[in-house]
Amino acid sequence: MNRKYRKPLIAGNWKMNKTPTEAKEFMVNFKGILPRSRWCDIALCVPAVCIPAAVRAVRETRIAIGAENCNANASGAYTGEIATNMLVDAGCKYVIIGHSERRAMGETDQDVNAKVKAALEAGLTPIMCCGESLEQRESGITEEWVTIQIKRGLEGIEAESIRKIVIAYEPIWAIGTGRTATPEQAEEVCELIRAIIRKQYGAKIARATVILYGGSMNEKNAFDLLAKPDIDGGLIGGASLVPEKFVKIIEATNQPAV
Ligand code: PGA
Repeated sequence: MNRKYRKPLIAGNWKMNKTPTEAKEFMVNFKGILPRSRWCDIALCVPAVCIPAAVRAVRETRIAIGAENCNANASGAYTGEIATNMLVDAGCKYVIIGHSERRAMGETDQDVNAKVKAALEAGLTPIMCCGESLEQRESGITEEWVTIQIKRGLEGIEAESIRKIVIAYEPIWAIGTGRTATPEQAEEVCELIRAIIRKQYGAKIARATVILYGGSMNEKNAFDLLAKPDIDGGLIGGASLVPEKFVKIIEATNQPAV
């Protein structure tokens, strides 16, 4: 983290876990043990049906609620889909876009790009995900792959909007596997992402952009990952389902600035 230029963000991604009732219970427990100091931003991205209960439960706290997906269209005949203005009206501040689990269902870089634009337009903070598969890493094309994902995902977005986007580097081989990237591996790609942004939008914007690591980040490995200069926080799956674990990750952002 570089806390001089960027405020760390710890974001949970509940995926398809917890009912609205369980979401409410989680929030009660979580609020009870959440540290007071505000050294990082906190978000929980929850299943769409949990959003109302989660928003109600975190009212008057610093916890922000986010969605796990959105549709790029403003409205219309898209059965089962949810538009960004609906998320805003429901109280969301963030939306995860382009998670590898959604890409595996057919979401393309073009879809990701359209969703990021729609989110920005609605005033949501997009958490745009990228990351390589094990096969891609082993064949040495991680850099190339992530560069394409970032460039395509950000295509046509004005420079002044770039800093409003959070980017999450999530190597697919590390997601839900317990096989976390080493701090060095994670930093290498997060640094690359910042370099891509620097080259395209300038040093000032690159310095202000929040880049997260995600993939089996937990209460044990968070401190070392977050100690790296270009890792500004985490996108946390499994460990965000347990208040005590999630709080420990939040506490791990409270370390001397590098
Ligand atoms: P994980 O998931 O922490 O359970 O590996 C991270 C994610 O997919 O965002």
